Amino acid sequence: MNTIKASAILSFIVLSSLISTVNAAPGKEPIQPIVPAKVKDANLVELGKKLYFDTRLSKSGFISCNSCHNLSMGGTDNLRTSIGHNWSQGPINAPTVLNSSLNLAQFWDGRAENLKAQAGGPIANPGEMASTHQLAVDVLQSIPAYVSEFKKTFGRDKITIEEVTLAIAAFEETLVTPNSRFDRYLKGDKKAINKTELAGYNLFKSSGCIACHNGQNIGGNSYQKMGLVEPYKANSPAEGRVAFSKDEADRFKFKVPTLRNVELTYPYFHDGAANTLKEAVDTMGRVQLGKKFTDEENAQIVAFLKTLTGDQPSFKLPQLPPSSDATPRPQPFAK
Ligand code: HEC
Ligand code: HEC
Repeated sequence: MNTIKASAILSFIVLSSLISTVNAAPGKEPIQPIVPAKVKDANLVELGKKLYFDTRLSKSGFISCNSCHNLSMGGTDNLRTSIGHNWSQGPINAPTVLNSSLNLAQFWDGRAENLKAQAGGPIANPGEMASTHQLAVDVLQSIPAYVSEFKKTFGRDKITIEEVTLAIAAFEETLVTPNSRFDRYLKGDKKAINKTELAGYNLFKSSGCIACHNGQNIGGNSYQKMGLVEPYKANSPAEGRVAFSKDEADRFKFKVPTLRNVELTYPYFHDGAANTLKEAVDTMGRVQLGKKFTDEENAQIVAFLKTLTGDQPSFKLPQLPPSSDATPRPQPFAK
């Protein structure tokens, strides 16, 4: 027997037992409602919010976290793959920052253990914000209102990149989206979703989607192979978790994405190849479960997925402090 087929069968057996475990707990749903964020340190969150929107953390002075994780668009850029410094096209789709604090780790391959570890990456990534940690800190240190705000928050005169990433992470922890119609249903409001949406949820459970997409974030809590029962031909060079773990068993394993707010976060998959939920559900059925859904079943699952859109972040737009004469200037066209 060829090894691909053998491993697919083995994966399928593992999956089947996973499905029954997740579905087994009597009277308990395999998905839990989002718990609203509790702000521990309001100054820290406020500072992080400013940094999240501040384009001066990029070399061009043009790109902020919000450029690719737009909080008016579900925390994504809605592009197949992102556009960074010098109009360079990235290799992989930008996941949403919404509810990312609930994921077991950050990035598609999980190479950052938490939001703080993640936040330093894009600032210094040549294909994203293309700055350096030194330059980013020098820029902030040259802006008097930032110096006093960091001092108020951390009690020191000198700004460090650790403080920058800590503040951004604290802000990101507030970006959870409670109160979706499906969460209201889970909490006992049986009228919060209609019959078609409920049929979609039941199908989502009975056909096995739930084995990988479960918990508070309906995903984000495990790494799974893309193309478990049928190989998936990606149009991206990404190899999955193996790139970081160096373990061949992790080849083409990706962090299962959250399905929270999935109606807003198109296009789908790590290569951004699926433009619509209809297409994504069809592909998942085929490559992960060996199932071909009818048009009606597909529409039911899509209807269920659209009930997962929660309250989007809502706050006063931060006003960023002005640069000083000493602030290093943007270099939009520098290599
Ligand atoms: C040029 C576009 C771009 C910019 C700017 C950018 N990101 Fe990202 N972000 C991405 C892409 C693409 C990924 C996925 C990379 C990967 O998984 O290898 C990502 C991944 C993430 C993740 C992981 C989410 C998850 O579920 O795994 C978080 C969190 C995040 N970015 C936050 C930020 C923050 C904070 C900033 C600003 C400091 C930022 N990003 C700037 C494109 C961008
Ligand atoms: C074996 C685990 C597994 C099963 C079963 C599974 N998924 Fe997935 N799902 C994943 C992984 C892994 C990805 C990311 C794959 C990639 O991007 O390469 C994903 C991605 C998705 C996406 C795209 C999300 C995004 O933001 O890009 C949707 C939608 C989705 N799954 C829905 C479903 C549905 C509906 C089912 C059942 C028909 C299902 N999944 C079954 C593991 C699974």
